[in-house]
Amino acid sequence: MSRQVDDNSYSSANAIAVAGLNLALSYENAAVDRLEKRLSETIVPEVKQKIIHHLDQTKNQQERLRERIKVLGMGMEPTSDKGRLPIPEPPQKLKMMIESSSSDKEREVWESLNDLIVERAEAIMYRGGIEALQLLKADKKTIKALEKNLKEEEVFGDWLEKINPKIAKRLLTKQIEEKKQGKKKMTKKIQEEKEEEAVSPAAV
Ligand SMILES: [Fe+2]
Repeated sequence: MSRQVDDNSYSSANAIAVAGLNLALSYENAAVDRLEKRLSETIVPEVKQKIIHHLDQTKNQQERLRERIKVLGMGMEPTSDKGRLPIPEPPQKLKMMIESSSSDKEREVWESLNDLIVERAEAIMYRGGIEALQLLKADKKTIKALEKNLKEEEVFGDWLEKINPKIAKRLLTKQIEEKKQGKKKMTKKIQEEKEEEAVSPAAV
């Protein structure tokens, strides 16, 4: 009887663990898509390098999760579904305004903040998952797999937190400079046209 109770609670704990692992996997599936999109869009070389590295890590994270799901079994297969990443969604009008009027540099600054939000959210998810698995007395290898994933999220999140303000400053300073240069060129052109008009016989 007691064995039966133990078996039942073991399988229900395992079923919850597998559901949690699949949930994490669904977020990582979505994260791969986002990282690939960012890789094609980013205009900052060092961000590109880090994204390549983290994309590789994320694929390994998916593999770790898939492996643990298969080992724990419970009749559940590793999911290929994609969860929704916690990126803030501005009101539609504001979103359209931002998207239509932003420069590539401004867009990079917006997206770098979203990169950080996603990585921090992933870390929060893994921390919660590890705590839950410890409470459920899940097997150590599964907890270790989540700890490894958590570490990678924290390292990338820490890097983004440190580098984002520096990149934003660099990009926006450059943008201001370019605008100033553009204005100077425009004023010079207008000045030259005025001078030409003044000496041209057609203008007389
Ligand atoms: Fe990540």
